[in-house]
Amino acid sequence: MVGSWGCWRGGGAPSARMCSNDSEEDMFGDYDSFYGNDSLMAQVDDIEHKYLQDKNMDVKTAGEIILGNLQSGVHQKEQDNFSASQNVVLLKSDQEGAFQVHDSDPADGNQKLTESALDDLPSSQLLYFEKMDELSASRTSALSKGRDECVNSFSDKIRDPLSFYAGAEHRNRPTDSSSHSKCILFKPESLKDHLKSAMTGNARAQTLQVSKTKQLKEAVLSEEIFVARKAIESSSLDIGPFYGLPSKVKDLFRQLRGIETLYEWQHDCLMLESLQQRKNLIYSLPTSGGKTLVAEIIILQELLCRQKDVLMILPYVAIVQEKVRGLSSFGVELGFLVEEYAGSKGRFPPIRRRVKKSLYIATIEKGHALVNSLIETERIDDLGLVVVDELHMLGAGSRGAVLEITLAKLLYTSKKTQIIGMSATLNNVGDLQKFLQAKYYTNNFRPVELKEYIKIRDTIYAVDSKTQNGFAFSRVLNFKYSSNLEKADPDHIIALVTEVIPKYSCLVFCPTKKNCENVASMVCKYLKKEFRVHKEKEKEDLIKNLKSIGNGTVCPVLKQTIPFGIAYHHSGLTNDERKSIEEAYSAGVLCVLACTATLAAGVNLPARRVILRAPYVGNDFLKKNQYKQMAGRAGRAGIDSAGESILIVQEKDKHLVQDLVHSPLENCYSNLLQELTKGIQSLLLSLVGLKIAVTHEEVDNFMCCTLLGVQQQLLSKEKSLTEIVKDGLENLIEKGLLKGRISEKDHNSKSTLTITPLGKATYKGSIDLAYCNILYRDLKKGLEGLVLESNLHLLYLSTPYDMTSTCSPDWMIYLRQFNQLSAAEQKVADIVGVPESFITKKASGQAIRKNMDDAVVNRFYLTFVLYALLKETNIWSVSEKFNLSRGYVQNLLSSAASFASCLLHFCEELEEFWVYKALLIELTKQLTYCVKTELIPLMEVAGVLEARAKQLYNAGYKTLAHLANANPETLVRMIEHLSRRQAKQIISSAKMLLSEKAEALQEEVEELVKVPTDIPGTH
Ligand SMILES: Nc1ncnc2c1ncn2[C@@H]1O[C@H](COP(=O)(O)OP(=O)(O)OP(=O)(O)O)[C@@H](O)[C@H]1O
Ligand SMILES: [Mg+2]
Repeated sequence: MVGSWGCWRGGGAPSARMCSNDSEEDMFGDYDSFYGNDSLMAQVDDIEHKYLQDKNMDVKTAGEIILGNLQSGVHQKEQDNFSASQNVVLLKSDQEGAFQVHDSDPADGNQKLTESALDDLPSSQLLYFEKMDELSASRTSALSKGRDECVNSFSDKIRDPLSFYAGAEHRNRPTDSSSHSKCILFKPESLKDHLKSAMTGNARAQTLQVSKTKQLKEAVLSEEIFVARKAIESSSLDIGPFYGLPSKVKDLFRQLRGIETLYEWQHDCLMLESLQQRKNLIYSLPTSGGKTLVAEIIILQELLCRQKDVLMILPYVAIVQEKVRGLSSFGVELGFLVEEYAGSKGRFPPIRRRVKKSLYIATIEKGHALVNSLIETERIDDLGLVVVDELHMLGAGSRGAVLEITLAKLLYTSKKTQIIGMSATLNNVGDLQKFLQAKYYTNNFRPVELKEYIKIRDTIYAVDSKTQNGFAFSRVLNFKYSSNLEKADPDHIIALVTEVIPKYSCLVFCPTKKNCENVASMVCKYLKKEFRVHKEKEKEDLIKNLKSIGNGTVCPVLKQTIPFGIAYHHSGLTNDERKSIEEAYSAGVLCVLACTATLAAGVNLPARRVILRAPYVGNDFLKKNQYKQMAGRAGRAGIDSAGESILIVQEKDKHLVQDLVHSPLENCYSNLLQELTKGIQSLLLSLVGLKIAVTHEEVDNFMCCTLLGVQQQLLSKEKSLTEIVKDGLENLIEKGLLKGRISEKDHNSKSTLTITPLGKATYKGSIDLAYCNILYRDLKKGLEGLVLESNLHLLYLSTPYDMTSTCSPDWMIYLRQFNQLSAAEQKVADIVGVPESFITKKASGQAIRKNMDDAVVNRFYLTFVLYALLKETNIWSVSEKFNLSRGYVQNLLSSAASFASCLLHFCEELEEFWVYKALLIELTKQLTYCVKTELIPLMEVAGVLEARAKQLYNAGYKTLAHLANANPETLVRMIEHLSRRQAKQIISSAKMLLSEKAEALQEEVEELVKVPTDIPGTH
């Protein structure tokens, strides 16, 4: 076991002393890090805090006092650590060896204190202050300059804090440090600079107050990044204090995540030679093994040391948002941007940043669109690293196909982009390794032991592969059920739950949504009153919160169950409700969640005990991967000391369960063929569209680099890959999406294929090929008579085709809605092909002879739902009106928002549809937020959903700038149900978004005022 942060340093010039000793001095033995010294930094913060409290204090004096105190603090620390009985202390500097620092007499006054404080900084950091900007070549020569000179120029700035501050504001320009402040005022580009600082002012608003200590911290950080980058460039094994990263990163993990030490496997994995050589890597560990941390460290190395952008692909929108929130604080502290690519958020291609690097956090679909846009603009090499979490998603239907397409394109177009994939549930790793040309690391480590059990009747058996039938008797469940209770709870869920709650938490996975609600109701019905007392006030608050989310209504089931600390959790809830319930569960207010399998793949909600209500998901028997993911929620690191899963089994399923528990994990197979239109056809189209491969031969070559290429013999016995490709290309030509010739004779020819405008629009809009022709026809028809009296007609065109099969209209509601339309709106129904007579007949139950297109009729019904939503902006009342679950309604809304933005990209490629562009931009916005316009700026912040936005707005936080500059304590005080951690995350995310927007504007200004090099008549 790696015992302390000390060993985190990885290859940082290891010495026996460092690895055997956990003491603080050891941790920073090789890097003389100002940041590593916790108590010193705590003092800096403390002093800064005091300074900020005294608003009347003049900035200059304050700065001096800060440095004075800082200096005495340093000495105090020295005395503690080094028993400095003499006046001389040795501090080690990595670049320059040890040098002497003389202790000074604190009574000597501020001037002296200031200079002495500087003495306590390592010389490399002093030099940094002198030339704060010149992080590259000029810095190297600066290192050889005399130390006294540096101290003088630095202390000049210290004596005039304002000039120091201004210098930092403009630190991207090389300047003459000694006349810094004057230069800024009288430079010819001062107007531009002024504009820039005005624009970025808000993003950095706290810098104004934070004064010099913040500058000190930033400077030290930049220094460390510089050293780390140099070390990485030199590709030596000695890569720095914390895996090549500034020690501040380590502090951040400690402060923000509570992580003190790396697990041994995490250290080993980070030290893999292949990783250091930037080879692709797949790593696999059991659930809760701590895979994320390793990925995050590698990501930070790429952003900070190698100065490249990074893409992180995660499976769900909610997880993307959680990650954006979690990593924004790192971005704010370490100076990189975190950009959200989920739902309808994300820019294509992304803005090219001159200075800061970006971490794009994306869903699978948005990640694909992002990669496409980078290939198209020939910027794919900017992407240094792509990390895929839950790599087994490669085998998950159409989403797996999209992930495979993305990775194959990356492998083919960029030799420089490193790919890292992780998962807890991989089996056929060989195939994946071959596909990704990756090394493999695996380990069985799990920080908290997971004990797996099954329950048959009243007996619990431990899953034990050593026994003959795979199960070993463990115990008989101890419970006393009345006959009534036995009838209500034949599976003894109450007995299982009450063994752990309320002290510990419990997740009950159920096969269906309805079952979740039933289980929650049933359990609380029979629970003793005592359970109500536990965290009573918090539970009341939660209900109040849910009530405000629901505009005055709370789901009756939740109202009944929450007082007992129980809730259900499934996709029928709105995002806001789900989030509140998740937060309450994490905080221990709720101790039981009855949930569907989606929770296992969603946010990180651990439990002491996981109960699987039945070995089914919907009607399908549980798969091994699903079982592992659900059971794996039990016993999470740092929270539980033990974890157990209990699968409830009926006698009839015993054999199936035996197979399930002891079979290996499912293999991961390519879905390119299975998902024809979203798979191989869409891939072939975009290969030509992006000019990645434009001849049959090139396409063939590309296909060998896919997972399908690796598994071809397994997946398609009848046809060779070349034949599959040939059929696919011919099909695209038939559909009018590609042009060119593919014939037997031409098989090996190099005749070039081209994409048609419709083909281009289809791949640019990420339109499923199954719908591209019908979409084109619908839009074309719309041009002949788009009814613009309201947005109903446009909404119909933006209603996602693939949702039509998920609904069956209630004809009475259909008719009622139809009757409420104006005459012009009723005409829309006729135009799209849903005549009034049809709806009336359906509603009155009459037989209909005419054949109607169900897809159109259902689609128009969904349009009604969207129409009502945009009008009322209230998911609750709309879901009631249409008798649909609010989660479904919300899902429809977000799908429509995504589809509208796809439609926009589709129309942009086809000149004839120019008129739709302006209309769709506005509609996408309305669908994306579907709330009162004033809440939109707040909801742009990752994870701020409608209810929270409303609270914030009502409390006076009306803009992004309000949030970015908010004080966490005040926020917690003013906003109900907001923890300090959440407040901080919101502020960090807002800061990140603001600085990202400000930087984008700044780049635009730079571009605008840049003097062209080719002005006629000048040279
Ligand atoms: N070195 C560590 N020390 C303490 N806690 C850690 C350490 N590494 C990770 N953790 C914590 O362990 C928990 C689980 O880690 P993580 O989410 O990375 O697991 P995982 O391997 O991705 O599991 P899953 O497959 O379920 O997603 C997290 O709360 C994380 O903060
Ligand atoms: Mg994980």
